[in-house]
Amino acid sequence: MKQIKVDITDTLSAITRADIDAAMTEARQSLETVDTGSGAGNDFLGWNHLPSQLLADNALIERIEETAKRLAEKCKVVVCIGIGGSYLGAKAVLEALSDTFAPYRPESGHPRVIFAGQNIGEDYLYELMDYLHGKEFGIIVISKSGTTTEPAIAFRLLKDQLVKEQGAEKAAERIVAVTDAKRGALRSMSDTEGYTTFVIPDNVGGRFSVLTPVGLLPIACAGFDIRALIAGAAAMEASDQTDSLLYAATRNALYRSGKKTEILVNFCPKLHYFGEWWKQLYGESEGKDNKGIFPASVDFTTDLHSMGQWIQQGERTIFETVLSVETPEHEVVIPTDNDNLDGLNFIAGKRVDEVNKMAELGTKMAHVDGGVPNMRITIPALNETYLGQLIYFFEKAVGISGYMLGVNPFDQPGVEAYKRNMFALLAKPGYEKDTEAINARLAR
Ligand code: PA5
Repeated sequence: MKQIKVDITDTLSAITRADIDAAMTEARQSLETVDTGSGAGNDFLGWNHLPSQLLADNALIERIEETAKRLAEKCKVVVCIGIGGSYLGAKAVLEALSDTFAPYRPESGHPRVIFAGQNIGEDYLYELMDYLHGKEFGIIVISKSGTTTEPAIAFRLLKDQLVKEQGAEKAAERIVAVTDAKRGALRSMSDTEGYTTFVIPDNVGGRFSVLTPVGLLPIACAGFDIRALIAGAAAMEASDQTDSLLYAATRNALYRSGKKTEILVNFCPKLHYFGEWWKQLYGESEGKDNKGIFPASVDFTTDLHSMGQWIQQGERTIFETVLSVETPEHEVVIPTDNDNLDGLNFIAGKRVDEVNKMAELGTKMAHVDGGVPNMRITIPALNETYLGQLIYFFEKAVGISGYMLGVNPFDQPGVEAYKRNMFALLAKPGYEKDTEAINARLAR
């Protein structure tokens, strides 16, 4: 199996080898802290050996595959309800592996997998319910806490629609819940209604949960090979972590030199949601105690025509990490045109990817010249195996990097602040004092 690779050569315009070597020493200590479970948040390290454990215990993979098959037999559409760590991993993998214009092929026998509960958009939900009306659909509802408002609203609406259209018994056969083993409203509702359930392990936080049923069930449902995904991650788990160490060390050395924002760049639009997944993983893990690299993401060359100016000449506090896919799945050659009215014959006969790669190289050179250090992660191809490697690589690196930064990479205390205000404003029972205080504040 080939392996993804990190290249930090083009950061050396901003930091020295000695900076990186010093950071590598710290990174190795942080790796030991992760692997020995001796740091803050060590009760959330379940992700660390998840790939090898999954491979050793075939029963869970089989149960996920059987459930996906059962849903496929009954449903043309499966709505995956969840937010944050309970949807981004599956969304990222599905987008990366699906045909952009035909993500759903009825002849494949797999249902179309779509997402809800990741926003509170009324029009989004109206249009979703309208689309589902009269269709054979099922629901995978995912919430570790079992109490998150956004997915709970979507689930209430879609469950209501499913029961009205199919009857309670058929609805219950088409709903699968992924939640905590014991706690939360979703657990008690599942037990009462008799839904099939999967458990999110206590020691795996939401943003690290893509290799649990949270990600694996929707991915299997859409017809992708979860065994290859897990095998890719397991290969990375078994590696010596050189690449995770190098990435964590270099980004921390850059941060200390004043580069406060990291932009994750792709030159392949299928990786857009991988950037979204990465932003949650790095943003929630590191942005605390008034510290942390700000994680941003762009799709190139698209965003070179919108964000390119800022990146080239704006404040010099950024660095880039490029996800570079070596080989596309398909081949498209630019044709010769006798009239050459568009002046493009100079690239006739070349594959589109050759042009893309020159755009990538040209962009890197321009940005490095403009004061934007550049790291590059080479991915041999976009398939389950390499996505599995990439997922584990980034998870491991964020654990190392968070400890280097001096934070607990596995908690997210700041996520609660908006919820408290929202519940107070909506007069949720139990929030009476907050409601009084927030209303007084608004009346001032
Ligand atoms: O990483 C996190 O903890 C969050 O983003 C959660 O994944 C998100 O809030 C969803 O939580 P839950 O799965 O409990 O509904």
